[in-house]
Amino acid sequence: MVGDSMKSVTIILFGATGDLSKRKIIPALYRFVSKKKLENFIIIGAAFDDVTSDQMIDAALPFVQESDEQYWDIVRKHSYYKKINFTEKNDFSSLHTFVQDCERKQGGTQNRLFYVATASQFFCPITHSCAEVGLLQRKDVRDAPWHRIVYEKPFGHDVKSAHEINECIKNTIDETQVYRIDHYLTKEIVSNIAMIRFTNCVFEPLWSNRYIDQVQIILSESGGIEGRGMYYDAAGALRDVVQNHMLEMLALICMESPEKLTGDYIRAERVKVLEKVRFIDGILGQYDGYKAEKHINPDSHTDTYASLKLVVDTPRWSGVPFYLKTGKGLDKKETIIHIKFKQVDCLLLRGCPTDSNWLTIKVAPEAIFLLTLNVKVPGTSEQVMPIGMEFCHSCLYGPQTPEAYEVLIEEVMRGEQSISVRFDEIEYSWKLIDVIEAKKLPVYQYAQGSTGPQEEQQQMEKHGMRWHS
Ligand code: BG6
Repeated sequence: MVGDSMKSVTIILFGATGDLSKRKIIPALYRFVSKKKLENFIIIGAAFDDVTSDQMIDAALPFVQESDEQYWDIVRKHSYYKKINFTEKNDFSSLHTFVQDCERKQGGTQNRLFYVATASQFFCPITHSCAEVGLLQRKDVRDAPWHRIVYEKPFGHDVKSAHEINECIKNTIDETQVYRIDHYLTKEIVSNIAMIRFTNCVFEPLWSNRYIDQVQIILSESGGIEGRGMYYDAAGALRDVVQNHMLEMLALICMESPEKLTGDYIRAERVKVLEKVRFIDGILGQYDGYKAEKHINPDSHTDTYASLKLVVDTPRWSGVPFYLKTGKGLDKKETIIHIKFKQVDCLLLRGCPTDSNWLTIKVAPEAIFLLTLNVKVPGTSEQVMPIGMEFCHSCLYGPQTPEAYEVLIEEVMRGEQSISVRFDEIEYSWKLIDVIEAKKLPVYQYAQGSTGPQEEQQQMEKHGMRWHS
């Protein structure tokens, strides 16, 4: 049930004309409106471009399938746009007046959700300037109306810059108002990882180096950088998805049981894992044709592919390799986790022709849990074959399952902080990325639509593994 404090809100969207706003944030707001979760609301877009509020909203139309024009009309009627320069302090005074006027016109309650969907270099100037003009106020967790601020990932580009941004934010507002978000943490199936593990006796006792042989986390994308060259060339795969989405999934798989699956309990357990992740080996790659794309340095060495071997130095996970692989321009779009169990000790006198069991958690495009078991090949007495026991989460709940960004905005409005990444989580994951960056790993070319660089084969042989499919 959506409470009144959630139905009534002013959303101030910095970077409103950017890629993320049109692909994810505005569509999520549309879905809220169509599900009648937002009633008394205002969307105020703020960015550097010269557009109207209708243009800002209409840019999101192609990213909502099967939408209804009557709800888009409601969204348009509640939307405003203000052109501003994020580093120009005076622009924030006029933004403040603009927001107050809009709130007066719509009769808002002054709950304010600031969504900073910009490059992280603007996080500090935006926060600081909003606070300086009184648009964003320091508030206690119990205060009404509330003011909360969401920062898109990546939070900084290394441990030093992340610290600087965080210091600036800390000096301006209270930690309970801060949401450093990672949309992977709000994907239904990802939040299910911990639930499945801690609520099923068939998994929890096996969840350690005693029974788990290795873990593979794969975030594969068939698309390229989709016009985000300016951001991506400075980031690369390690900063774009490994530092955040992939390491957060790893943390959820490895964490000890939190007291509750909420708020700080879960963040405290995730951080203990991230502190202990250690880099062992890896290679990077870049797809052919990347350098010719818009806003890309023709001499760029940016990684669009990364394949890593990591370990987690905790008693539970010591000795278990974690293989992470991600890339753009690959053969498919799929996010998947494979957990390989050790081969069973044979209880038969004449030996067991077994294969290992795998638990596969498919995060996207479909959400599926798949457990492979060994069964007898019909008509034989000693041959086994793997069969899959599948639970297709998205088949069962498909249309009802809210999109990650929808959950994310809803949780922020609810004040639920488990979806917010605590600064120490960010700090440890940047420390790991800084270590990897310092290794200056080779960047190999690979063909678009392939499974990655050919050198991946040697890596697999070197580590005696193969990517599970
Ligand atoms: C974003 C990255 O955080 O995650 C993108 O910036 C990437 O480059 C995207 O494509 C992947 O998210 P999803 O939800 O499409 O798997």
